[in-house]
Parts: sequence; structure tokens; C-alpha cells
Amino acid sequence: MPAGPAVTPVLRVGLLGCSSIARRRTLPALRATPAAAVTAVAARDPRRAEAFAAESGTGAAALTYEQLLAADDVDAVYVSLPNSEHHRWAEAALLAGKHVLCEKPMTTTAAATTALTRLAAERGLVLRENFTFLHHPQHARVQRLLADGRIGAPRTLTAEFCIPPLPGTDIRYRADLGGGALLDAGVYPLRLARLLLGPGLAVAGATLRVDKARDVDVAGLVLLVSPDGVFASLGFGFQHGYRSRYAVHGATGTLTADKAFTPPATWQPVLRVEEQDHTEEHTLPAADQFALAVAAFTTAALAGPDPTGAATAAPCTDTARLVDEVLATAVRVPDHEELRR
Ligand SMILES: NC(=O)c1ccc[n+]([C@@H]2O[C@H](COP(=O)([O-])OP(=O)(O)OC[C@H]3O[C@@H](n4cnc5c(N)ncnc54)[C@H](OP(=O)(O)O)[C@@H]3O)[C@@H](O)[C@H]2O)c1
Repeated sequence: MPAGPAVTPVLRVGLLGCSSIARRRTLPALRATPAAAVTAVAARDPRRAEAFAAESGTGAAALTYEQLLAADDVDAVYVSLPNSEHHRWAEAALLAGKHVLCEKPMTTTAAATTALTRLAAERGLVLRENFTFLHHPQHARVQRLLADGRIGAPRTLTAEFCIPPLPGTDIRYRADLGGGALLDAGVYPLRLARLLLGPGLAVAGATLRVDKARDVDVAGLVLLVSPDGVFASLGFGFQHGYRSRYAVHGATGTLTADKAFTPPATWQPVLRVEEQDHTEEHTLPAADQFALAVAAFTTAALAGPDPTGAATAAPCTDTARLVDEVLATAVRVPDHEELRR
């Protein structure tokens, strides 16, 4: 028998939750990925799922959460539910034999994140936390400049991820849904510190500003120290003008990245290297970090037993441990905006 044309494998993805981030970023990224197809979407309200499916232009079936996990034509699930729901539904998806791309933070505790990463490893399934910034090439360039000694030995990392206040109904103001600035925005600089400074980071101090009426933190500052004595000062919140930047201060210079965590796909990042006698700027090509994150997940899931699972799980659980430590040790202060209401 003559061989037929080669069939290109396609990962069939189901979207669990018709969320804002699914609509704005992940669905367009999946649609632009030739090796992925969106075959199902699920919402708690069937009319919402139907409207989302129709609007998606994918021909996806509109299902309930349970139906999506049982669907034979779904190989992988994208979980973009409120943070409190990630563990339960990612676990159910893994138990149903599906690969999982889970929105950040993977769960709200280190114990739950560790349990999920173990389950994925046991089942040979791909589980990824959707920190899309990790896929933007600008950070690999930063790592190369640091490795080349351009600013000497790193002494301090400063990083901030801050956004203006959100509508009062936003899930980020709901304690019961895993809201709060640390779990929403603070996890970005924490994950960056793990990327640039490596494992073994310890929390040396932390403070959280708390909206007492809603019982959620709305801003915070964390001081970390690495095993070799590098400091990290990390700010976050949703009470500020937009800031998304970091700087590594070294023995002989400073390296700065702006729009570091959520750059638009068309943004050409500018890395700034300041040395004793001159400053230079490196303008990098634009990159769509959502498309890159989806492509990396799709490639890993289609590759079979997860080749990079252990390498991606360790930083994920380390970051979750830092979150636990901050929550356990932070000095809490009341939010004066809230006191004035
Ligand atoms: N990677 C990134 O850059 C990025 C950016 C933004 C957000 N995120 C993450 O994505 C997740 C969703 O954020 P979002 O801003 O997109 O939220 P959102 O628009 O409020 O969507 C949350 C979804 O969760 C579902 N849901 C299930 N139980 C719920 C409940 N009890 N209350 C409210 N919603 C419930 C809803 O789905 P149905 O009604 O459709 O069932 C809703 O569509 C969060 O984990 C967030 O951290 C990631």
C-alpha cells in the first residue's frame, strides 16, 4: 500500500471558563497556532458558553465544565477560572487524562501546587502555569547579558508589577475566590526573582496593605535574599499607576527592562545597560508572549511524555512556597483608601 500524506498532529484544546483573559489573549493565540484547535468551551451558564463558542469562530462545542472534561475530542484543557478554582479543576482535568495549561498562579498554596505537579508527572501529562512573560525572549537576553558579566556580579534585583484599581466586582477583590494583589500581581516579580536569581530564595521581610472590608491585600512589598546573598525588592499592587519593570543592580552597572511582564505583542523591548562611563540601549524585536506560551505548551503536549516537566515544575513550586512564606510572615497594614470610604 502506498503511504498516504503525512498527518500533522493537532492538539485539541478545551477552554474551561469563558474568562476575560481567554477571550482577549489565549483564544487568539490558540487560533494562531497551527498545531492547536479549540474544540470545546465551557461556562457555568450554558448561554454564556454558547455565545462564547459562536463568537470564537472555532466551531467549538459549548459544554458544561464536567462535559468538557469527559469529551473525547479534548486532549488538553486551558483553565482560566478564579485562582481558588485552579487546583480543583486542573486536578480533575489531569485525572481525566488531559494535559493542562493553567492560568497563574497554578494554585493558592505550595502544597496544592506540589500535589498537582506530582499528579501530572505520575500520569505523564503536561501541566504548565501560564506565566507568559517567561516565553518572551527579552528575559533570555537579560540572562545572557548577566552571564557575560556586563554589570558585574548581581547585588540587588528590584521589580514592580502594579496596576490601577479594578472595578469593585472584579474577582481579584474576592477573598473566597483567591483574590488579592499578591496572588494576582505579586507572583510575577516573585517568579522573575526565581528566574534570575535561581532556587533557594528566602523571604527576609514582607508587608501587605489590606482592604479589611474585603479581606484582600491590595498592595505589597517583599524582600528576598538568595543563597549567595543577592537581595530582591519586589513591589506589587492594584492601587497604582501602571508599572511593569525590573532592574538588576550589579557590582559595575545596572540592567533595566521596562514593560517586562505584560508587553503588547507589538512592543519592541528596550534593555538599558548603565556602566561607569557609558549607557547603551538594546532594542529587541517585538514578540507575542501569549502565542509563544501557547506554542510551547502545544509542542510539549504533542511530544508525549513531558520532556521538560521536572524543569518547569520546580520553579513553579518554589514560587508557590515564597507566596506561602509571604502570607505567613507579612506585616499587614490597613488600606487608608478603604478607611476613607
Ligand atoms: N497570564 C496572564 O497574563 C493573565 C492575565 C489575566 C488573568 N490571568 C488569570 O486568569 C484567571 C482569570 O482571570 P480573568 O481576569 O480572566 O477573570 P474573569 O474574566 O473574571 O473570568 C473568570 C472566569 O471564571 C469562571 N468562574 C468559575 N467560578 C466562578 C466564580 N465563583 N465566580 C466568578 N467566576 C467564576 C467564570 O467562567 P464562566 O462564567 O464562563 O463559567 C469566568 O469567566 C485568573 O487566575 C488570573 O490570575 C492571567
